[in-house]
Amino acid sequence: MPRTPMIAPSLLSADFARLADEVQRVADADWLHVDVMDAHFVPNLTLGLPVVQAIQAVSPVPLDCHLMIEAPERWAPGYAEAGARNVTVHAEACTDPRAVARDLRAAGALAGLALKPGTPLEGYLDVLRDFDTLLVMTVEPGFGGQEFMAEVLPKVRRARELTDTGHLRLLVEVDGGINADTIEQAAEAGADVFVAGSAVYGADDPARAIAALRAQAASAVTG
Ligand code: DX5
Ligand code: ZN
Repeated sequence: MPRTPMIAPSLLSADFARLADEVQRVADADWLHVDVMDAHFVPNLTLGLPVVQAIQAVSPVPLDCHLMIEAPERWAPGYAEAGARNVTVHAEACTDPRAVARDLRAAGALAGLALKPGTPLEGYLDVLRDFDTLLVMTVEPGFGGQEFMAEVLPKVRRARELTDTGHLRLLVEVDGGINADTIEQAAEAGADVFVAGSAVYGADDPARAIAALRAQAASAVTG
């Protein structure tokens, strides 16, 4: 079955002093990826719920919140209640990922589970039955503009296989280093959703960059 690639620009590479305008510049995107970092789970600090609520109020694009934070059990449901379409928590930070998924879904969002590059998929196969999206990190979380780690792609391939054979029902998302040079490999491996920060916001025309990435991903799967 052909998949329609979804492009999710990451606001991390946008101009934080002009967030409302930056959101409008990617109005053609499928999701708007918002990286929430707490300076504990990752060595960087970005933004939190009040800023996400403000973005939600002006965004024409559904929000995809990527929580790189400790204690997601406590904080994640607030992002779903704020109206985010998808809220992703890190497996490495969760004591009870299933409970988080339940709370996210109850608050009306899709539930996402993220895995750092070194975290194997196999330990989470059962848990993933309660999730809607799987975010495979293709860089170490924390910063934009890092180099794509192709060695993580077997994890994408395996998740695709499990989804295609009906063992799991997931959107498979890749995040980190996705650009014109790497998106085809990620698409071939089976990703559905492509997060791109610097490749979109670093471009002169973000709308064109989104369209180009989408076309590249689509042609990589249809051949
Ligand atoms: C990194 C973030 C990514 C980041 C991607 O921890 O999760 O979403 O913004 O940025 P690029 O596309 O520049 O690698
Ligand atoms: Zn992210």
